[in-house]
Amino acid sequence: MLRGWLGGDERKLTHRVDEMARFATSPDEPPMSIRLDVHDLDVRAGYARWSEIYDAAPNPLIRVEEPVVRAMIDRVAPGVALDAACGTGRHTAYLVARGHRVIGVDGSPEMLAKARARVPAADLRTGDLLDLPIEPRSIDLAVCALALTHVPDLLPAIASLARVLRPGATLIVSDHHPTMGLLGGSAFFVGADGAAGNVRTFYHPHARYLAAFRRAGLEVADCVEPPIEIEDLPALSGGLLSLADEAFRSAWVGLPNALVWELVRRE
Ligand SMILES: C[S@@+](CC[C@H](N)C(=O)[O-])C[C@H]1O[C@@H](n2cnc3c(N)ncnc32)[C@H](O)[C@@H]1O
Repeated sequence: MLRGWLGGDERKLTHRVDEMARFATSPDEPPMSIRLDVHDLDVRAGYARWSEIYDAAPNPLIRVEEPVVRAMIDRVAPGVALDAACGTGRHTAYLVARGHRVIGVDGSPEMLAKARARVPAADLRTGDLLDLPIEPRSIDLAVCALALTHVPDLLPAIASLARVLRPGATLIVSDHHPTMGLLGGSAFFVGADGAAGNVRTFYHPHARYLAAFRRAGLEVADCVEPPIEIEDLPALSGGLLSLADEAFRSAWVGLPNALVWELVRRE
């Protein structure tokens, strides 16, 4: 409603007011009756639980992020690749299929166990993004997907990724878009036991990324911001789409969901 203040369609705004009145006067019906018991989890505990369903649950962020990252990977000739914070090996598997010799690193033993089963050809190591167990200047292509939102400070994380790249190598960084963070988006999941969890995330605006890239000697080759589409709404609305479908559509469709950077390490 607030976003329609200037060019808004009066019929839609009236409809929205009616919806809110209906919700506010029906405290015993959804959505007002819904109580979520969400456990705030650190990265280690969060991904230990999330690993059980990570590859099974529909993820609208991955739906828009994956084709963009893959197109960037496709531009790089096979060599030594790193999937930093590889999780269950989503991009690791694609890198192997593209002919790279792949090292994956993640801080979660549970996520890595899934990656080991999925991509036996990759060299998978337990480790921290901030202190990668990788030789400096040894990597031709590094991917760090959907993980930097969990680090409080981008500078040391980007510096750590840049350190392992050969001069001229490519780094691809993806994450949930900072706009979504501002609007309440988070690393929320419902575990295999039905209990909800939220892994702590941090807000990283574009300016902070650019400062970290400059400091680490990385040049921006491309930046893509794929938006939310109508087909993402059922998953994004947590099953509540039918309660206010037009409101969900005008609030979300077209907003950038992912932020994907392609970077080159200077000589
Ligand atoms: C949302 S998952 C993304 C996994 C995979 N990159 C993908 O895109 O499917 C985030 C991953 O980052 C890992 N992670 C977060 N912070 C980390 C850190 N400081 N060091 C290593 N791994 C980290 C988590 O363990 C988790 O596996």
